[in-house]
Amino acid sequence: MEIEELKRKLSGEEPQKIIEYALNNYKKIAISFSGAEDVALIDMATKIKGDVNIFTLDTGRLHPETYEFLDRVRDHYNINLKTYFPDAHAVEQMVNKKGLFSFYQDGHEECCGIRKVEPLERALSSLDAWVTGQRRDSNPASRASLPVVQKSGRLIKFNPVANWSLKRVWEYIRENRVPYNELHKRGFVSVGCAPCTRPILPGQHEREGRWWWETGERKECGIHLTLADSLSTTRKRK
Ligand code: ADX
Ligand code: SF4
Repeated sequence: MEIEELKRKLSGEEPQKIIEYALNNYKKIAISFSGAEDVALIDMATKIKGDVNIFTLDTGRLHPETYEFLDRVRDHYNINLKTYFPDAHAVEQMVNKKGLFSFYQDGHEECCGIRKVEPLERALSSLDAWVTGQRRDSNPASRASLPVVQKSGRLIKFNPVANWSLKRVWEYIRENRVPYNELHKRGFVSVGCAPCTRPILPGQHEREGRWWWETGERKECGIHLTLADSLSTTRKRK
């Protein structure tokens, strides 16, 4: 089915229907799980199918609570959670040259490129489709018109909760007794790497807890700026 037709077919559907369509129509498909509230996707997917491919990108800089949570989710759903690590040589070169916190000085792109984007490319290399937990309201600057399905380079990318609010995701987590990251009890909303994530205050947008020292509006680590995504972004900016 052409992507525009697929968009029309799925755009008004609930996340469960979108995941069901994705899992039933793509064999080489996986869910990317960050160790945060996107666990709702795993809950939905495992209720549809027993053997779902799920992967996480372990940057080496996650909170202890996130590591504990990743294993808790693995056990709870009895899933094969595949972990991708960054290239050790690339990390060594960067850290030996610039130290462990260079992102506070010269921005997060280099470190995210090594610790997240390159491992993601490896994770996607054997797939035809992937599923993400991106929501439109998670980043108004860059995700406001996020579709529930899109082309992402040569892959199809499903964003089943694109239309859901953060509040709706948490209703789902509570209604379905889904396990969650302990960090959420301590004011963390959007959870990324430990040195680059902090809790937010009442009234702050969830994205304000990510890379808070940076002024750039978009606040993206780069994993959702694949060739196709960045081309459409460039076109829009012109
Ligand atoms: S990010 O690009 O800024 O880090 P965000 O934290 O909003 O993204 O997460 C959006 C979605 O990206 C997640 O639901 C998940 O599908 C994917 N994602 C983000 N970080 C990771 C990770 N470390 N491992 C696997 N998937 C991730
Ligand atoms: Fe590095 Fe921070 Fe990006 Fe994690 S979020 S990969 S620590 S710059």
